[in-house]
Amino acid sequence: MAMLIDGKAISQQIKEELKEKALRLKAAGVEITLAVIQVGNDPASSVYVRNKKKGCAYVGIGSVSYELPDETTQEELLTLIRELNQKKEINGILVQLPLPSHIDEDTVIRAIDPKKDVDGFHPQSVGALCIGQPGFLSCTPAGIIQLLKRSGIEIEGKECVVLGRSNIVGKPMAILLLRENATVTVAHSRTRNLKEVIKRADILIAAVGKTKMITSDYIKEGAVVIDVGINRDENGKLCGDVDFESVEPLCSAITPVPGGVGPMTIAMLLNNCMQSAELYA
Ligand code: GUN
Repeated sequence: MAMLIDGKAISQQIKEELKEKALRLKAAGVEITLAVIQVGNDPASSVYVRNKKKGCAYVGIGSVSYELPDETTQEELLTLIRELNQKKEINGILVQLPLPSHIDEDTVIRAIDPKKDVDGFHPQSVGALCIGQPGFLSCTPAGIIQLLKRSGIEIEGKECVVLGRSNIVGKPMAILLLRENATVTVAHSRTRNLKEVIKRADILIAAVGKTKMITSDYIKEGAVVIDVGINRDENGKLCGDVDFESVEPLCSAITPVPGGVGPMTIAMLLNNCMQSAELYA
């Protein structure tokens, strides 16, 4: 039987640590506030934004939210971000993605002051990560490193395969694993002999967005399997990129969906907000 990596419990542990830290900062006169911007009312984004604000309230971080209509222009959004960049009382700025198609996401991300880039999406944050300098880490990959470490899973020297090469997960994940001294392969839709490549993994990070794509024939016996996918199956049930039922008996540890990686993303966002206040407030 594989060990179930409980993201809910581990994220709760991190939130308790952050709660204490927030109290200590408050006692020293440092208040922490996150600005959350959502453009339009995509239902999935609304759920994410609500959960992020709930997480802030839980650990003692203030949040101000800007719910802007779908027809907001890029210039209006940029003006708001520039105002928030200037406000001393705002420590972090989060623009929920995706944005409506008439707004260029890269331009918007670049407008955020890197000192307030708690998503870790700004090119300066990504560049700092690549060359091992301090900066905000992308929340989902940072959360996965915490899941592994806090579950006692060694990363150093392991064969890690990251399936997926997105800017938000796959690429920063590969760099973070490299920083932990893993041997890292990034596999994607054009990878030849995908199954053989994935089967080399001691630790597999599946971040491809394809419902139950990873079945037992992709898995080396004893592998650790981290499932980043949030998909719906044919019955509308939430499921990952990994076919849990067939993979679980083969591996040594696995994350469930839901309750694995998902809760860690918010915990790491809260951690970044706190780090912003500690470093720059
Ligand atoms: N959309 C999906 N995931 C994320 C995230 O981590 N941050 C933001 N800002 N938008 C997202």
